[in-house]
Amino acid sequence: MIKIFNSRREKLATEMQSGDLVVIFANEMPSMPVSFLQDKNFYYLTGLEIPKAIFLLEKINNKSVSHLFIERGIPEMEVWEGKKMTVEEARELTGIESVQYLDRFNNFISAKLPNMERLLVNIEHLNIDDVLDKRAKFAQNARERFIHLTFQPVTNLMKNLRMIKDEWEIEQLSKAIEITERGIRHIYSQSKAGDNEAKLQAMLHYEAIAANAKHMGFSAIIAGGVNATTLHYGENNCDIDENSLVLLDVGAAWNNYSADISRTFPISGKFTPRQKEVYAAVLAVQKEIIEMVKPGVTMQELNSKTNELIIKELKNLGLIKENSEFRTYYMHSIGHHLGLDTHDLADRTKPLTAGCVITVEPGIYIKEEKIGVRIEDDILVTENGYRILSKSIPKEIEELEELCK
Ligand code: GLY
Ligand code: MN
Ligand code: MN
Repeated sequence: MIKIFNSRREKLATEMQSGDLVVIFANEMPSMPVSFLQDKNFYYLTGLEIPKAIFLLEKINNKSVSHLFIERGIPEMEVWEGKKMTVEEARELTGIESVQYLDRFNNFISAKLPNMERLLVNIEHLNIDDVLDKRAKFAQNARERFIHLTFQPVTNLMKNLRMIKDEWEIEQLSKAIEITERGIRHIYSQSKAGDNEAKLQAMLHYEAIAANAKHMGFSAIIAGGVNATTLHYGENNCDIDENSLVLLDVGAAWNNYSADISRTFPISGKFTPRQKEVYAAVLAVQKEIIEMVKPGVTMQELNSKTNELIIKELKNLGLIKENSEFRTYYMHSIGHHLGLDTHDLADRTKPLTAGCVITVEPGIYIKEEKIGVRIEDDILVTENGYRILSKSIPKEIEELEELCK
């Protein structure tokens, strides 16, 4: 494990210039014991799930050194919060030699910054009128006091690393997908007309928690009938009518890696003829696009081909006459990179290479017919083409009618 995180830090160092200092803040701990979600870049480079810590990577000439600052445990707080990690433990867990307590950070950074040229901080995207968080304030303070420095968001370097997954990452994603599959199969077999969408969500969460997944990758979309035509529907609180299709867009997380799967099925176990033809159209498009996935292909190419195929299907379904009308029934893009973030950090303009994981998720949404269909799988790009990581989650019409009846 240490080796994996160590090699990521080495890779990041090769992306850095001499004079660069990367500063990555861990997330803060919410004041009540709600579940803690680590900053994705901090996790990627350290593997640690502790709050408040700060990771630094400096590069001078050709030498790079990692530093880690962690919170010091206060004995009186132990009864509330448990024991905090010690510097020795952090050293052992991360393989980083330079580990100190956070109370040393200000002195350390004040001595370090005069010798650096560029500061790269993990600042979240902020709107112009947002209150500055701790990270943004740190960058602002550094900017005012060390005016020779130039600044960059660290995502510019991290996206090149994070868009190519190693074997361990594929294992984590596969596990997240497997747990999601259990939830989907539970829904297929146990849900029935009249159920509230919330009950289906509970089935999904039951399987995720029972499998020891600490959290979901994103909040589930469980949408019956017309609700499925709202792309980011998240209320999940309506009763599901007898003849509805149900759209599930769900994903558990495992070691912070997120699955992202969409399935659409008839609650009664039987598609109406119209639902069947719309579903078959989306499935055909999805299969054709998945076939295109291989190194060298760009997301833009997948998008243009999808648009072309969807236009053809929408004409066959009698929904549009002119090509330009297709956005009425298909409003989003074909997919995104998947990893620590559900919409993972990546350079979308770069061609795909082996190790990229993307979603392929076409849909057709017909509000006036109360039909929304999306089918989404998670695809690993391999040397020769692709592997569907979510292959075993049923999506064929006959399978769905069998499993959901
Ligand atoms: N679940 C969000 C998406 O499919 O992109
Ligand atoms: Mn999704
Ligand atoms: Mn998606």
